[in-house]
Amino acid sequence: MIKFFAENRLFHLQTREFSYVMQVLENEQLVHRYFGKKVNHFGTGNKITYLDRAFAPSPISGDRTFSLEALSLEYSGNGLGDFRMASVELRNEFGVGLDLKFQTYRIYKGKFALEGLPSSFGSEDEVETLEIDLYDALTDVTVTLLYSVFESANFLARSVKITAGEHATTIEKCLSFTLDMPRKDFVVHSLMGRYAYEKEWTQTPLTSGRYEISSVRGASGHAQTPFLALADERITEDSGEIYSGHLVYSGNFKAFAETSPLHYTRWGIGLNDQAFSWRLEEHQSFQTPEALISYTDQGLAAMTQDSHNFIKYHLVRSPFVDKVRPILINNWEATYFDFTEEKILELAKVASQTGIELFVLDDGWFGRRNDDESSLGDWFVNRQKLPNGLGGLAQSINDLGMEFGLWFEPEMISINSDLYRKHPDWAIGITGRDPIYSREQLVLDLSQEQVCDYIIESVGSILESAPITYVKWDMNRNITSMPERLANNERYEFHHRYMLGLYRILEELTTRFPHILFESCSGGGGRNDLGMMYYMPQAWASDNTDAIGRLSIQEGTSLIYPVNSIGAHVSAVPNHQVGRVTPLETRGNIAMMGGAFGYELDLTSLEKEEIEEITEQVATYKSIRQTIQNGQFYRLARTSNTQSTIYVNEDRSQAVFTFVKILAQPEAPLIQVRLKGLDPEVQYSCSQLNETFYGDELMNIGLTMPSVQKDYFSVQYIFNKI
Ligand code: GLA
Repeated sequence: MIKFFAENRLFHLQTREFSYVMQVLENEQLVHRYFGKKVNHFGTGNKITYLDRAFAPSPISGDRTFSLEALSLEYSGNGLGDFRMASVELRNEFGVGLDLKFQTYRIYKGKFALEGLPSSFGSEDEVETLEIDLYDALTDVTVTLLYSVFESANFLARSVKITAGEHATTIEKCLSFTLDMPRKDFVVHSLMGRYAYEKEWTQTPLTSGRYEISSVRGASGHAQTPFLALADERITEDSGEIYSGHLVYSGNFKAFAETSPLHYTRWGIGLNDQAFSWRLEEHQSFQTPEALISYTDQGLAAMTQDSHNFIKYHLVRSPFVDKVRPILINNWEATYFDFTEEKILELAKVASQTGIELFVLDDGWFGRRNDDESSLGDWFVNRQKLPNGLGGLAQSINDLGMEFGLWFEPEMISINSDLYRKHPDWAIGITGRDPIYSREQLVLDLSQEQVCDYIIESVGSILESAPITYVKWDMNRNITSMPERLANNERYEFHHRYMLGLYRILEELTTRFPHILFESCSGGGGRNDLGMMYYMPQAWASDNTDAIGRLSIQEGTSLIYPVNSIGAHVSAVPNHQVGRVTPLETRGNIAMMGGAFGYELDLTSLEKEEIEEITEQVATYKSIRQTIQNGQFYRLARTSNTQSTIYVNEDRSQAVFTFVKILAQPEAPLIQVRLKGLDPEVQYSCSQLNETFYGDELMNIGLTMPSVQKDYFSVQYIFNKI
């Protein structure tokens, strides 16, 4: 996977599909030589072209052709003639700038380790690691570049470690990677959006200048995902080159792509340098969060599938990663805060009769929480609502044949809470300034060890107090200031220290309760990122439960994240967010496409026919969920008015096809959809059509969609091998 050629000091990293090449030049500068389709050879004939470029500074007297500005750099210290976005910036008694020179390297089997941060993993057979030390003699700083190659998974994991020598230094910026590419004709793919409209798949042609997505919210955010890809302008699902980069992190981050006047592209990802700095005393080190890089020339579907597989088998640590997920009912949109034990049990009873397997009790069960203005932090049960406690309620739900799950929002503190009255200094705020309100709650200062300990202990004791097998871990506001408790020079460390505190809590709780399936949430997908997914294999994708609204959210999320991570629920009509009335069939079909399927509506208020339909949906989903959650996923033909997808199981004996047409049209043309992933020689039966087809017919000729004059129309066809 990793080769070093001593004669020209060249490193060649190879995965199943790509090569990544670096070289040490005569003056010990480490340059980037190639990233792209796998090559078996990178010979000495492949030379760098040096030219005398106007205004390009040279560190070598008498050689006007050598300039960092005109080279592809592996990691740029800035201040020595490279004017592009720097990879790293330090401040110390010597000023700014780093003259990073190659010092040594190490190659070993297995994955590099990251302390206190989520990161990918693999066995010694699957992964090989290269560490390169770069050294700046003046400041005595070592920058270690880490590369773990996942050969068959087709990914490269990266991180950077900065170590001070004899002098203290302050890190002002350190990205997890930057990469220089010798072209700029890319389209940038990213996932943007907003609250209730998360993960909007955005495609922006890279023009001259800089494209950047970043967050300073103390979370990745609804509108930003720590991911960026550079694709060919004419990429399709099945062909075209695409380079992708992810950050395994849940806090402030930055991803960018910028073009240079010489028509290069530099792109990268890492911690956001806004509101960040990190002090290193003599001989201390700092390690960046992990970044993941991949490449394919097989189009978008290949990027998606590689990403899903890598995340499932090399990043999600939960034992639930490939286990089928329970079908759940969540009481949030059924009751909001207004419930009693009796109401919950009525709902659970109907749910159990339909075959639903898990009841999730949402917000409002603790403290004096009857609206969203109090009690966060008071993690003890409200006996007025639940006289038999959580243990009693969970037992009654178990008696109905269902498991029991519970909502928490542990990182928060309501101003009206016993916890705040006792520990006002545990909340992030600034004395002399009014708090900045958001849902009348403040954020706990997780940079304090005792605060993290309180969360571990209070959440842990609830989890021990009742048979709880599922936790929804919410986070419903962003961080607006840095605590004044920290001295000035540490204040800018706060955001990252918060994340380290959070990761310690998650590490401890998920390790202590391996039987609990954790779902992350932040007002829906406000922190749906790989940092959280390492600990929690599922995320509530959005507070938007409208089936039609969900189409783009699920499509964007599944562009990179595994389908079984996407919590998707059938909700009531008129829909609570947008007022739309969609058929129950379409709500079911679209939620099933989402992956981790469930319901979130008051089943006790439905008609008998609706309950029968739900019972059928539940039974259907049980027969296809292995295929949806762990099969191969393909996006099929789509327009702004239609969407279609297919999931195919491992041995291609079952496939689940879904087609949605949002609005009816007059004189609508017929729509023909070609399926993918099937076995061409296998005959499949489809009970919904009462027909049989061969795989090659379905994939090459396709299926004609029904012509129906109804809005919000959908079909689900299940193909089983005969
Ligand atoms: C957030 C979540 C919702 C629900 C509420 C409860 O908005 O996304 O699903 O849990 O909090 O307050």
